[in-house]
Amino acid sequence: MKDRIVVTIDGPAGSGKSTIAKLLQERDGFLHIDTGAVYRALGYITKGSPTKDGIKKIHFDIERKKGVELFYNGVNIETFIRTEECAKFASDAAKMDFVREFVNKTARQIAANGRYVIDGRDCGSVIFPDADLKIFLVADLYERAKRRAKEEKRNIDLIEREIKARDEQDKNRKIAPLVKPKGAFEIDTTYLNIEDVYQRIKKLIEGLDADKNS
Ligand code: DC
Repeated sequence: MKDRIVVTIDGPAGSGKSTIAKLLQERDGFLHIDTGAVYRALGYITKGSPTKDGIKKIHFDIERKKGVELFYNGVNIETFIRTEECAKFASDAAKMDFVREFVNKTARQIAANGRYVIDGRDCGSVIFPDADLKIFLVADLYERAKRRAKEEKRNIDLIEREIKARDEQDKNRKIAPLVKPKGAFEIDTTYLNIEDVYQRIKKLIEGLDADKNS
């Protein structure tokens, strides 16, 4: 097994990125960095309107216990960022270059060595263009909305509209838009269950671990 592997997983909301990344963390000893969570945290802290000077004052403490956990003012950020309002703040903040620089720097610092799986929208295209393995997950909009509606116990039509608007914004922004990274393996998860997706990715990782030349 290699000491150093970077796996990136990119794709739109609800395509299964975080679920798969968490499985790789639980089962295979990878540490998971959720870059969307960092955007959500910045969006939440700044109410979707970050400024260059304001961002400089934000400091996250990082703990590597059960995985990579970010704390702000002593509080684990997970406890306040998982709302669709916060996702919208995150998507708005993510259009700004200084916000993206902050997140990219944070992710690269955390994943400086070791085995990491990093998920988001530009992890394989911008943050880690030399990643050992790049995955691009996609799924039909309705299926993605269905998954989120189940998780959040909210109306599917409303969620479908919110996700569609966020997809458009994330795909069409000028800096680091959501794209399939060069060299990425694309997996359409619409008709696959989580275990199937996990097994496909696990096979690719086993190939990396077995490869003596990389
Ligand atoms: O993965 P998520 O849905 O939690 O991400 C929330 C928003 O953050 C997403 O709509 C766009 C932005 N984001 C981004 O621009 N780049 C990333 N690498 C990750 C997230």
